[in-house]
Amino acid sequence: MVVAPEIRKIGIIGLGSMGAGIAQLAVEAGYEAIGREVTAELGQQARGRIAHFLQRKVDKERMSADDRDAALARLTLTTDLAELAGCDLVIEAIVEDLGAKLALFADLEEVVRSDAILATNTSALSVTEIAAAVAEPARVVGMHFFNPAPLMPLVEIVRAELSSSEAVEAAYAVGERMGKHPVRCHDTPGFVVNRVLIPLLNDCLRVLDEARVSPEDLDTAMTAGAGWPMGPCTLVDLVGIDVHVHASEALYEKLREPRMAPPPRIVAMKNAGLLGRKSGRGFYTYE
Ligand SMILES: NC(=O)c1ccc[n+]([C@@H]2O[C@H](COP(=O)([O-])OP(=O)(O)OC[C@H]3O[C@@H](n4cnc5c(N)ncnc54)[C@H](O)[C@@H]3O)[C@@H](O)[C@H]2O)c1
Repeated sequence: MVVAPEIRKIGIIGLGSMGAGIAQLAVEAGYEAIGREVTAELGQQARGRIAHFLQRKVDKERMSADDRDAALARLTLTTDLAELAGCDLVIEAIVEDLGAKLALFADLEEVVRSDAILATNTSALSVTEIAAAVAEPARVVGMHFFNPAPLMPLVEIVRAELSSSEAVEAAYAVGERMGKHPVRCHDTPGFVVNRVLIPLLNDCLRVLDEARVSPEDLDTAMTAGAGWPMGPCTLVDLVGIDVHVHASEALYEKLREPRMAPPPRIVAMKNAGLLGRKSGRGFYTYE
């Protein structure tokens, strides 16, 4: 396939937690961006969150007011997919549902130019399976940002079975221009970070019961003894216990390795509504 000679305009589909952060990165990096949400109200809410975060940068003297205004002026919003026609790259960040992503990619291909690159921010679905929705899968790659996207330095650039090298390298270059540390990897369940981190955290949680260590002492053990920047219970509380259980189940479903399965203790916590920081209580209690 022929990829766009230069990425100038980026479409972002779905402006939830991840999409709004990715749109912010795009406009801060100087790209023209168009964000598509299902309703105009959701789009405006996302713009409000982006404006809030940019204002915080201005307050901390990390950005000038002029740069904030210029960045916001580069972001347009739409509910109409057809308005993404002029994009050189589209990054999809809608709900983590294969059927919804397949339908969207099929529609998207009808709208964009033949040299536009299509990226998905999926965490746990197969990029190759999503790429199968389009006639030209060579143009599809994964761009897996971490939450919160504006702050987390990593982006995994995922090569699906049929991705072209041009599409992979173009996505890598966009990640770099957004100020990230991109890494290239192939399309395997969990990619790099979650493939390592999910079973590791599950091991930590099993040790809570096996060694009858308290969450506080387990966190101390891993920070003071293994040099972790944050203990595993603190980390799972921060990520969200429901998010961790969901990611574990998705990896277990794909790999069938017992270590991937969420320990019953944490599933029970999720079912009880103990979701970590966001619910005020998980392994720890928050104000
Ligand atoms: N939250 C995370 O920690 C995280 C991290 C990395 C990757 N991801 C991935 O990013 C994607 C989005 O996750 P999220 O946490 O931002 O979800 P979210 O629920 O916060 O946002 C999804 C948004 O997509 C919108 N949407 C749904 N269908 C749409 C469509 N057809 N067109 C336009 N907008 C549509 C919804 O209205 C919603 O605002 C998922 O694939 C998820 O796996 C999430």
